[in-house]
Formats: sequence, structure tokens, C-alpha cells
Amino acid sequence: MVDVKKVAVIGAGTMGSGIALVAASSGYDVLLVDVSEDQLAAAQKYHAKISARSVEKERITQEESDAALARIVTCTDMTGLNDVDWVVEAATEQVDLKKKIFQEMASHARDDVVLATNTSSISITDLASAVPEAEDRVIGMHFFNPVPVMKLVEVIKGRATSETTTARTIALSESMGKTPIPANDFAGFVSNRVLMPLINEAFFAWEDGVADPEAIDGIMTLGCNFPMGPLRLADHIGLDVCRDIMLVMHAGLDQEKYLPCPRLVELVDAGRLGNKSGQGVYEYGN
Ligand code: CAA
Repeated sequence: MVDVKKVAVIGAGTMGSGIALVAASSGYDVLLVDVSEDQLAAAQKYHAKISARSVEKERITQEESDAALARIVTCTDMTGLNDVDWVVEAATEQVDLKKKIFQEMASHARDDVVLATNTSSISITDLASAVPEAEDRVIGMHFFNPVPVMKLVEVIKGRATSETTTARTIALSESMGKTPIPANDFAGFVSNRVLMPLINEAFFAWEDGVADPEAIDGIMTLGCNFPMGPLRLADHIGLDVCRDIMLVMHAGLDQEKYLPCPRLVELVDAGRLGNKSGQGVYEYGN
């Protein structure tokens, strides 16, 4: 294990709650921070459900599950960051918000603590510019959804990220049972540079009337052996997240092809955000 005992995760949405659970299951104490009590309660419910499933499947014992859940403490502010050894930011995919959070993270955490971000598309160098005193400790640590299941962590160095920070990030990812793979600091990195245009194109195919969502997903699932079709995957990721990633790539790579499809934008504007809101391309009930 790396020289880390306690990890703070900032943001208790889909990704943050997944990262918190994986860290706790790997033996780390976890401080999960979110401004919303409701979001923290939802994360705890998710942790209990996934842990119960692991006990049921005999992957872990009831005692191990209880111990992992007990290692996660929640809080609505960042004051507790003064005694953590690592921070992973997993807030909404908006540059200004993330920069503000980074400033707060840097002001509370010790000056040897790595400030990682789970951003899926925003430049690490740009985020690090918000904390010039800590630039060498800022790094991309990009997990995939669902975090307990997906093996990859995309590791992205910013312009000033030190070799020590990178080596420690690789070690921490491995200690959490993940496979870290490096990518360079371009908008969308590798994963979303390749995935999001595919998802966006599926929305265009739907909008143009090439086929309905079930047929588009059926064709891509059966024809390309995808575990789920691109429109269902968009619901799973969050349609707002997909739109935001396209916008970040459009701004960062300056090409028309990265503009989000109007059908995707319409659904987000209508509050249909995918699984998390109960409706997206598809209906999910509760
Ligand atoms: N949290 C934890 N575990 C979950 C889960 C979740 N949200 N969803 C499913 N699982 C678990 C299930 O409990 C099940 O575990 P068991 O082995 O205990 O049965 C296992 O995953 C398989 O689930 P299901 O049998 O219900 O369904 P499935 O076989 O269709 O698998 C899936 C579900 C793993 C999500 C699979 O469909 C899949 O791999 N889909 C693609 C996911 C993907 O591409 N993710 C990356 C998105 S991009 C991203 O995250 C980055 C970004 O920046 C946008």
C-alpha cells in the first residue's frame, strides 16, 4: 500500500460515491464531502446496497463489509481535509466550480497531499492554474462508471505535475485494484475523445430518423459487442455529463464536430438526465 491512510473525496455524486466505496473497500479511511446532505444520504444508501450485494455473492464477509462502510465518514464542508493524505475531486464537470473547489482543497490540505481530479475532460494544467502553490501535486485520476466494476483509471499529468505525484497516483490506483493507464493533457483525454463523439453520433442518428433508440442500441450491442448501446450508456453516464464533456472538447479542441447534438441538449434542458433522474433517452421509473 502507498503511504496513504485517509482519502478525501469531494463530491458524492455517481462518481464520487463510487470512488469513496472502492477506497474504503481497499482499506483506506474515507472522508466523503458534499454540500448536499441529500446527496450524502444517497451515497450511503448506494454503499450499503453494493456492499450487501458483495456479501451476498460471497466476495467479502459481512464483517469486511461492515468495516468498509464504517471507514466512510461524510461531511458538508472541507475543514476535515487537514488530516487527510490524499484528495480526489469529483464535482460537477464545470471549470469554474472545480477551480473554486481546488482553491479550497489546497487551503485546507497539508502541502504534501496530492490533489487529484476525476475530471473526464477538463485540462489538468488549467485546473492546476487555480492553485499555483500546489501545481506539482495536481493530477488527473479519471475513474469509470460504475467505479466498483470498471478497472481503468486514466492518469493525466498537467504541465507542472511532478514525477512523484504521478508515481504515487499509479501506486494508489493499483492499491485500489485498478489498472492505471497514462494519457496526455488534451480536452477529453483518450477515453472521452473517442467515446463521446460516438455517443453524440448515436443522438444524431436518432434525430435524423436513422433508427429509434432501441434499434440503435440493439445494433451497436449485437453488431459491435458493446456491453450496452451508446444511448443507454449515455443515460448511465448522465446526459448532462455527456453534454458538458462535448462542450469542453468543443472549446478545447476548437472543432465543430464536438458540438453536442441538439437532441442531447434538448433532453438535458428538459431535465431528462438519464438513470439518475429516472428519465433520459429511456424511462427508468424509480
Ligand atoms: N455500481 C456497482 N456495481 C454495479 C453497478 C453500479 N452502479 N451496476 C452494475 N453493477 C454490477 C452488478 O451488481 C453486477 O455485479 P455481480 O457480479 O455482483 O452480479 C455486475 O456489475 C454486472 O451487472 P448486471 O448483471 O446488472 O448488468 P451488466 O452485465 O449489463 O453490467 C455494466 C452492467 C457493468 C454497467 C455493463 O453494462 C457495462 O460494462 N457497461 C458499460 C459501462 C461503461 O462503458 N462505462 C464507462 C462509461 S464512461 C465513463 O465512466 C467515463 C466518463 O468520463 C464519462
